[in-house]
Amino acid sequence: MQLRQDAFSDSPFPVQVLRETDSTNDALKRMRSAPHGTVLVTGRQTKGRGRLGRSFFSPEGGVYLSVLLKPNAPASELLHLTAMAAVAVRRAINDCCGVAPDIKWTNDLVYGGRKLCGILTELVRQEGALCAIIGIGVNCSTDLAQLPPEVRDVATSLRKITGRQIDPNDLARCMVRRLFEMDAALLTEKKAWMAEYAAACVTVGKPVQVVSGAERRSAFAEGIDENGALLVRWDNGETAAVSTGEVSVRGMYGYI
Ligand code: BTN
Repeated sequence: MQLRQDAFSDSPFPVQVLRETDSTNDALKRMRSAPHGTVLVTGRQTKGRGRLGRSFFSPEGGVYLSVLLKPNAPASELLHLTAMAAVAVRRAINDCCGVAPDIKWTNDLVYGGRKLCGILTELVRQEGALCAIIGIGVNCSTDLAQLPPEVRDVATSLRKITGRQIDPNDLARCMVRRLFEMDAALLTEKKAWMAEYAAACVTVGKPVQVVSGAERRSAFAEGIDENGALLVRWDNGETAAVSTGEVSVRGMYGYI
C-alpha cells in the first residue's frame, strides 16, 4: 500500500506526499516560507535522522512524517512540545489501529517493550520566526527482517502488533488530525496532555541508567515534570530533572 496525495484532500493541515526523500525534517527546512502546519509525508527516506545525531533507518513500509509549526512563543515555553507530540501520535495510532503504545522517555513509542516510533523535534528560525519541525517515524508495515540487527532486535511494527496490514494513508491521516489538535492545545491544555504523557510513560517507576557522553549513572525514575523532564533519584539519594540525553530503562532494549 502506497501513500497517495488524494488521501489528504480534507486534511486540517496542508499535506504533501513525497514518493521518497532524504529526510522529511530536512526537506521541510529547505522549504522557505512554508506556512504554519505544512506537513511532508513519505514512505521511504534515504537519510533519515534520529536523536543525538544518529541515523534513522527508514525503509519501505514505514510512515515518515514531519510537520512545521510556528507557535508564536519563545523556545522556553515549548519545552513540552516533543512530549505532547508523543501523546498526539499515541492517540493517532490508537484511532487507526486500536492499540495504545507506551511512551519510553523521552520520545519513543513502544509496544511490548519494543520500539514502534521515534520522534525528532528541531527548532529553527525561518524569516525571523521561531519554527518547530516535529519529525515522526512509525514502523507501520515495515518488514522487520530488513532492519539492521541492532535495530531489528528492539523493534516492532503495527503489522506485527495487529496481525493485519495497516493502510499508511489511514495512519498518516490520523497523525495529521491529532497533530492539528495538539497544535491548538499547545499553550492552553499543557497540564492535561502532560498528565496523559506521565500516565503512559513506562520509564516512570523503573531503575534507569542516564547516559551523558561517556558517563552512565544509575538512578530510579520517579516522575515527569510539567515540561517533560524525567525526575530521577540517583543512587546517593539526591534528585535531578533530566531533560536531554539518553535514558536506558531496565528491562527494555536489551538493558537487563
Ligand atoms: C529517534 O528515534 O531517534 C527519532 C527518529 C525520528 C525519525 C523521523 S522520520 C521523519 C523525520 N525525518 C527524519 O529524518 N527524522 C524524523
